[in-house]
Amino acid sequence: MKKIIANIFVATGLAAALCSPVFADGNHKNIGAAIYNAKGELLQPEGFRQWVFIGAPLTPNGLNGGQAGFPEFHHVYVNPDAFAVYQRTGEFPDGTVIAKELVLLKPGKYEDGSYDAPSGRGFFADKYHGMDVMVKDSKRFKKTNGWGFFNFGHHAPPYIKTAEAASIDSCAGCHQANAEKDMVFTQFYPILK
Ligand code: HEC
Repeated sequence: MKKIIANIFVATGLAAALCSPVFADGNHKNIGAAIYNAKGELLQPEGFRQWVFIGAPLTPNGLNGGQAGFPEFHHVYVNPDAFAVYQRTGEFPDGTVIAKELVLLKPGKYEDGSYDAPSGRGFFADKYHGMDVMVKDSKRFKKTNGWGFFNFGHHAPPYIKTAEAASIDSCAGCHQANAEKDMVFTQFYPILK
């Protein structure tokens, strides 16, 4: 009996350690929580398309001299437990994971890349084409203002399985200089206002 109780105790302790401490009531599992390998690289998040979808910025080639850095739709998702905390507090807690997936435009006959749909001429999503991730952990990523930045490839799936944290120059610097709130471009997501 004692052994069983001890095992339960160990199991609960482990579960608590895996949970992010910032989820206020301590009972959240934090779906989509960041997982790292022994080298400290982030494992590619799974199931992120089922998280909370917050918006889809678009910087098409047609409006960027034919050479947009990211000509695809940028589909952005936040892990649901962190999103709930944000709604309650207006802050991104440690344990927030934001995934941005690039989605190619459906090719059309026009030079600007637009396509004729029954609803009108415009831009419509076609195929998945890359993924970037941000993870908030104010201790682990102190040097990059509390967020880790990871690139899982700019190509069709499958994306790479693990990614190391990117340098300040390649990601965090631009977010720090331009994003409205805590490294996140909340100015482009009405649901985060
Ligand atoms: C030159 C500026 C710049 C750089 C460099 C940059 N980003 Fe961003 N990022 C943006 C902008 C602007 C948005 C929001 C609008 C958009 O997606 O076009 C954004 C959005 C994001 C989002 C969605 C959350 C949010 O804040 O809107 C993630 C995740 C992200 N970037 C990850 C990365 C990663 C990873 C890198 C490095 C590999 C990176 N970014 C480099 C400007 C930048």
